[in-house]
Amino acid sequence: MKFKHTLMNNNYTNQDMIAVRKLLKNRNIMLTQSKKVEEFENKWSKWLGVKYSTFVNSGSSANYISISLLKILNKNKNKNEIIVPTLTWVSDINSIIMNGFKPIFVDINLFNLSMNTEEVLKKINNKTLAIFITHAQGFNGLNDELIQSLKKKKIHLIEDVCESHGAKYKDKKLGTYGLISNFSFYYAHHMTTIEGGMICTNNRKIYELSKILRSHGMAREAKNNSYEKKLIKKYKHLSPQFIFLYPTLNFRNNEIGATIGINQLKNLNKNNLSRTKNFIFFLKHLDSNKYYVKFETKGSCNYAFPVILKSKKIKKRDYFEKQLFKNNIEFRRGNAGGGNQLRQPYLKDIVKIKNFKNFKNVEHVHFFGYYIGNYPDLKKDKILKIVEILNNIKF
Ligand SMILES: Cc1ncc(COP(=O)(O)O)c(C=O)c1O
Repeated sequence: MKFKHTLMNNNYTNQDMIAVRKLLKNRNIMLTQSKKVEEFENKWSKWLGVKYSTFVNSGSSANYISISLLKILNKNKNKNEIIVPTLTWVSDINSIIMNGFKPIFVDINLFNLSMNTEEVLKKINNKTLAIFITHAQGFNGLNDELIQSLKKKKIHLIEDVCESHGAKYKDKKLGTYGLISNFSFYYAHHMTTIEGGMICTNNRKIYELSKILRSHGMAREAKNNSYEKKLIKKYKHLSPQFIFLYPTLNFRNNEIGATIGINQLKNLNKNNLSRTKNFIFFLKHLDSNKYYVKFETKGSCNYAFPVILKSKKIKKRDYFEKQLFKNNIEFRRGNAGGGNQLRQPYLKDIVKIKNFKNFKNVEHVHFFGYYIGNYPDLKKDKILKIVEILNNIKF
């Protein structure tokens, strides 16, 4: 059989399908958000180590609602800046823009593809409301200096863990450090619910608001009787069932997604262990003269192998890509989210930064960084074959 390595493989199991079939056999069921969604949220909170989780229809929706929550809770309107990495997914930045905040960009480290702490601290000023960190491609982006400085300066930490389910800083999972954290269950991630995302927090008020924002801004979604009673009294002229508190949309998920999620969660720890072993084995054999291998793997849990060239020559990079095509190795250039967000057209009228030289590391990843698939059932001999192909490419 011809050699082939895809970005993701076999992410739905037979057990997932059995669970869905069992769900569908029930008579008179609600397939829209209902009991299974609640069960998945509770199980996810327990797995992660937070009090509350809200299941939504994508990681992007989780991003958007999280920043909308900040907007609702922010009493000081002069605080309108949110610091973000240049290497992230587009929805992190768009959530900020669409909620009327200003994104302030910082460069990344090559060793964890996350925000450079020194730069973050330099860019904090009296307008800074929050830091929206992305734990990119399974790497931890946190450190004590960042956590302590944010605490001291009373700046919110929001964590995007959409690419790093199960990765840790010290002995705690990523997504438990911030005021709010986000996960994505898109097909190519550590686990899937077809499409889906999660908003997690230990704060009861934020949790209740996240459920309101998930579903049309409707007051009753909070399931807080005393709060609802007060609102009904306040808005006497409204139907108690239809009190819409904030402008938002419908970001709900459904019972099929939740059923798959509950089932997938059972295997997440085991699968993550395999992914981490795969990644360390991959790095050990990769030619360090040609590729960057000095990643901080402590606590990491990667659903993809980052492949960052040491060469800075576009011709050589193009040759590298040709070899991957020839050997049927599926890849994405730019690592998380296609590289430097500052180069994307959607930002051209919003951020007028032209000096890309100030963003040295993300620029290198933008032009010479890649990722290829890392999934739990990847065998050692296949990893060796991939490494052999990569190492034999002549630079
Ligand atoms: C870091 C990050 N944030 C957010 C998202 C958005 O997730 P979704 O595709 O579920 O909308 C992604 C998607 O891959 C991501 O990588």
